[in-house]
Amino acid sequence: MSKPKILVTRAVFPDVIERLEQHFEVESNQDDRILSPAELAEKVKGMDGIFTTPSERVTAEVLAANPSLKAVCNMAVGFNNIDVDAATKAGIVVTNTPDVLNETTADFAWALLLATARRVTESEHWLRAGKWQKWRFDTFLGADVHGATLGIIGMGRIGQAIARRSMGFDMKVVYHNRSRVAPELEARANNAQYVGKEELLKTADHVILALPYSPQVHHIIGAAELAMLKPTATLVNIARGGIVDDAALIDALRANRFAAAGLDVFENEPNFNPAFLTLSNVVLTPHIASASEPTRRAMANCAAGNLIAALTGGTPPNILNP
Ligand code: DGY
Repeated sequence: MSKPKILVTRAVFPDVIERLEQHFEVESNQDDRILSPAELAEKVKGMDGIFTTPSERVTAEVLAANPSLKAVCNMAVGFNNIDVDAATKAGIVVTNTPDVLNETTADFAWALLLATARRVTESEHWLRAGKWQKWRFDTFLGADVHGATLGIIGMGRIGQAIARRSMGFDMKVVYHNRSRVAPELEARANNAQYVGKEELLKTADHVILALPYSPQVHHIIGAAELAMLKPTATLVNIARGGIVDDAALIDALRANRFAAAGLDVFENEPNFNPAFLTLSNVVLTPHIASASEPTRRAMANCAAGNLIAALTGGTPPNILNP
């Protein structure tokens, strides 16, 4: 019997490709170019499943291009790149890679928080530019992280992992979420206190965004919300572009309405708004919050495991279809 056919849309660990080859006839996008929906619609023809990454837009048109497609397995916990409703209507299984990246992503949220509050990259650029002449009492004064109030928007598993780390910094945690999380989870998350979004933005010293993207949360942080932040506050986004209105953020940073931002995600990444590059009060990283060696490997294997289960008669562990 011939093996099912799959498309791996981007470069991925060679041993994961080898694992997939044990079960499937694999076509992989060796040159690693991001495929447009139109290209993807062409490539998907004749495939039983696709292994995708957050860069590919798996639209209703892509899904409709191949009536025999059975599974779309995303190598990410976020899945806003896939039209899950259209997939569900077409009977196509969609999966993601939850849990394996929680701790690594939380570590990185802290890396950005500390770098942003304590002006790590800004001062390094200054030093590298040969501007360090003498010690001064006021060189790169930043905000304290220890003892401060941390506001987390999105108290899912990543938000909770971020909150747990704040215990070591003697912080108070407030959070906002679609709904309040169970009291035992709040207790483990440094006794996090549920508050409204406005109260969080007005009272937190440092705000971290850790919520999934959906059209309902598009631009929930815009000019009005940014104006609520304390003048000394920092804002970190490790969630998704589109949650923050980047144009409004650039205006607010340019006007120094609050201290600084740390951004791992952007609207229209990787072609993000170049105005960010002109600002010194922002730390910029290229969507790498989950990018530790073991975690990216675990994500790739999780996506592969989902695809293998979906196409060999099993039940994938991480199905997203309702
Ligand atoms: C995710 O898993 O959604 C991450 O953003 C990918 O790095």
